[in-house]
Amino acid sequence: MACQCDNEKKNIEKYLQPLEEILNNYQVPAESDIDLKKKKKKDSEIDPLTKKKFLIPVLQEAQDEYGYLPEEVLKRIADFLELSLSEVYGVVTFYTQFHLQPRGKNIIRICMGTACHVRGGSQILNEMEEQLGISSGETTDNLKFTLETVACIGACGLAPVIMINDGTYGRLTPDKVPEILNEY
Ligand code: FES
Repeated sequence: MACQCDNEKKNIEKYLQPLEEILNNYQVPAESDIDLKKKKKKDSEIDPLTKKKFLIPVLQEAQDEYGYLPEEVLKRIADFLELSLSEVYGVVTFYTQFHLQPRGKNIIRICMGTACHVRGGSQILNEMEEQLGISSGETTDNLKFTLETVACIGACGLAPVIMINDGTYGRLTPDKVPEILNEY
């Protein structure tokens, strides 16, 4: 019987397979593509900036694939790009587009800009939190919804407004919330 650690290793390899496919697209240029001077350098001696500039696009693609950026994925990216894990975490935590926790299939954004706030945005948020059993910034256990608050989303005339994925719902009242959630 295979040892448990072998199985674990295989599971991680399988889990990281889609990431390997992404990383394959970010190989440094093949020797035939680089100039004569660089040809003499080993892969690891190629300008570190060449690899570093790949970090954000690689993170974006990895997040698209996994839905968020788990630690195993970040470790592999750091290894591939020859960066320290803390450098990678530094970038991930700097940009709000990156997420370290799983996200829901549907992202609910509740506008808390001024127009929405004065027209009852907080009541919509309270009702959403109540219906979903989570607070703003959290994801339901079944990964169906992530709830977030945002500043003005540019539809102030429809305040209070929320977005679910790409859909916009305006002039909301708390009693409409369950019906909207049922659409998903
Ligand atoms: S303040 Fe909510 S859409 Fe502008």
